Amino acid sequence: VSLRRQVIAIDGPAGTGKSTVARRLAQRLGLPYLDTGAMYRALGLKMLAIGVDPDDRRAVAASLPATRIALRPNAGGQVDVLLDGVDVGERIRAPEVALATSKLAVHPEVRERMVALQRDLAARLGGVIEGRDIGTRVVPEANFKFFLEASAAVRARRRLADLRAAGRDGASEEEVAAELADRDARDRTRAHSPLEPAPDAVRVDTSDSTVDEVLERLLAEIRRPGGNLQS
Ligand code: DC
Repeated sequence: VSLRRQVIAIDGPAGTGKSTVARRLAQRLGLPYLDTGAMYRALGLKMLAIGVDPDDRRAVAASLPATRIALRPNAGGQVDVLLDGVDVGERIRAPEVALATSKLAVHPEVRERMVALQRDLAARLGGVIEGRDIGTRVVPEANFKFFLEASAAVRARRRLADLRAAGRDGASEEEVAAELADRDARDRTRAHSPLEPAPDAVRVDTSDSTVDEVLERLLAEIRRPGGNLQS
């Protein structure tokens, strides 16, 4: 598939500031922002709704044909995730959805379906595309690839702050750190498109940086002479 649109791939584990940076970068460049994690989460929501165990590969695979997942650009410059035609909104952010999603994201049938959907979106819309396997698997031909990293302690603290901001306090820093480590291990060790930096990705450690600093770092890379993004 040849890309008619500019694509910037942003990968990395949770808590590295990936989503915030990707969204801001898209705004700055006037490109669409595509959150691929939200698509996996929509599938997680569906499995919970229909009572399918996310670890059960065959049951999850069997429910894929009857599940429609789509992204629809909205008026605010963001994209809504549609599950079977209905906007999932913030429901996909619930902790139980995150856990179910992390489990079903290892199944090859799920990944093949999602990668196909996401490649199609990338070719049609282009944009800043955020996930785990964008630079390695979804759009290896992306114009720019970034892999964000941060220390485990910083990531746990950021995740906790997110949870509190969403009114879901209650979890301790230790619990959050353990949950992150668990999700990370599943992402990194799965056989099909594991989380890993593409060989040509620019790796950025965000542990000691503000969002603005990371954003400037990415923009500098994109605007470097020899870069191929016209903007
Ligand atoms: O980035 P996030 O927390 O919204 O991602 C939700 C889950 O989906 C997470 O467990 C990893 C998985 N995921 C994936 O496997 N591949 C992607 N491209 C994006 C997300």
